[in-house]
Amino acid sequence: MTDIATLWEVGLPLAGAAGGLGYAKARAPRVFWSLVGLPVATTRFAVTYRSTMDVCGLTVQPSRFRAFVVRNLARRPDVQPVPPKVRRFRVTSTGLRVTLRLPAGLEPADVMAASERLRHAWGVHSVNLIETKPGFVELRMTGYDVLRKVRMPRRRVPSGPMTVPVALRENGTAFVRDYLKVPHALTLGANQSGKSMYQRNLVAGLARLPVALVGIDCKRGVEQRGYAPRLSALAITPEEADGLLEVLVGEMEERFDLLSEHGVGDIWALPDEMRPAPVVVLVDEVAELFLVATRKDEERRDRMVTQLIRLGQMARAAGMFLEVCGQRFGSDLGKGATALRAQLTGRVVHRVNDKQTAEMGVGDIAPDAVVTVLTIPPDRPGVAVAGDTSGGWSRIRTPALTAAEAAAICAEYAHLTPDLPALADYRPVVPASGVAAEPVPLVKPSPATA
Ligand SMILES: Nc1ncnc2c1ncn2[C@@H]1O[C@H](COP(=O)(O)OP(=O)(O)OP(=O)(O)O)[C@@H](O)[C@H]1O
Ligand SMILES: [Mg+2]
Repeated sequence: MTDIATLWEVGLPLAGAAGGLGYAKARAPRVFWSLVGLPVATTRFAVTYRSTMDVCGLTVQPSRFRAFVVRNLARRPDVQPVPPKVRRFRVTSTGLRVTLRLPAGLEPADVMAASERLRHAWGVHSVNLIETKPGFVELRMTGYDVLRKVRMPRRRVPSGPMTVPVALRENGTAFVRDYLKVPHALTLGANQSGKSMYQRNLVAGLARLPVALVGIDCKRGVEQRGYAPRLSALAITPEEADGLLEVLVGEMEERFDLLSEHGVGDIWALPDEMRPAPVVVLVDEVAELFLVATRKDEERRDRMVTQLIRLGQMARAAGMFLEVCGQRFGSDLGKGATALRAQLTGRVVHRVNDKQTAEMGVGDIAPDAVVTVLTIPPDRPGVAVAGDTSGGWSRIRTPALTAAEAAAICAEYAHLTPDLPALADYRPVVPASGVAAEPVPLVKPSPATA
């Protein structure tokens, strides 16, 4: 009897704890990581560091002086190869960060080449590497798949006048879109890969800033009409887009006049009360602007492409930024496509259907990211590879945000919509209820002259 009682007393809590941990692993990976993953990974790292570095080829022969000291002063006959010194070891809520001092003879590329082997050796989910300063690298390890269920970090998110956190990086940090650093960007991806979700997150962030938002959504506004309360202008057909781009270029030229009057290089150098509101132009499905059915359309197309290229080349100083989305963006779209693409420095590439598209997106800025783009699984919409011309890139995923939530945010911050008289003709009409969360009828917006 006592045996059974003991079994109950010991077995039940044990089974409960095991079940609880199993549940935590699946449903609350962050908690599981703190309770179990972290101690296990830390111990594994500490115990196997030297041997792992050795088998991964990340050790160097000791210097002559060191060999001399070991042999003669420490009186050890065998002189071991030297691994990089661990300079800093930090634990985070998603993984580990280790700073290594590279010995002479090793370069960051060697460690990067071994990162897959290190990942398996220490049983972590991913190992990324950044060079912090010459001779030092930081290994950023994540303990679990942080992109499975995206939770944006609250702390240590970079901020700035034109900075918006849009997605979570694989290493657990926030991926921010900073328009002052990267003025124009291109988002590529196949059907249903998460492009519009990316833009939705961007709009939700931008809505809270004192900037003007301009939408060009030639799919009759199905994506962007929900943002109407916060938009300064919206075009939902190629004809309207043509007119709107014309107006935007006019606005840009006026701003340049203002800059030259004050003898400054960009709008940020103007006194606060003079500075015009920054404008972010969001284009959903750029191919709609390029594709033409008739010869007459061709003229309009060429005009629009030229305007976009002009904006891409000069609008940054005037505080106007392009955010372009598309399924493909290659020379097959027609004249001017590659010239425009070259202006779009920031790149976010979601799942694509072919290698060519991946190359269009990141091939010219971070060639080694092409393979990663091709491995994005179809059941993970929103996962993308984000790169910029500095050559760095990372895997990211946007948090899921419903159209209704985005529309509610736009309605809440509608009062921040700047007054830009030049765009008044294209200001979308906001439904009386104020929130356009419901599917909207496909009608042309009429000018808000009232
Ligand atoms: N980060 C994410 N997390 C969860 N679900 C997502 C995420 N991103 C997108 N989805 C879902 O994937 C589907 C497709 O997303 P979205 O409409 O953004 O794709 P798209 O690339 O714009 O497609 P299309 O080319 O058809 O416009 C939607 O149902 C959306 O809810
Ligand atoms: Mg879309």
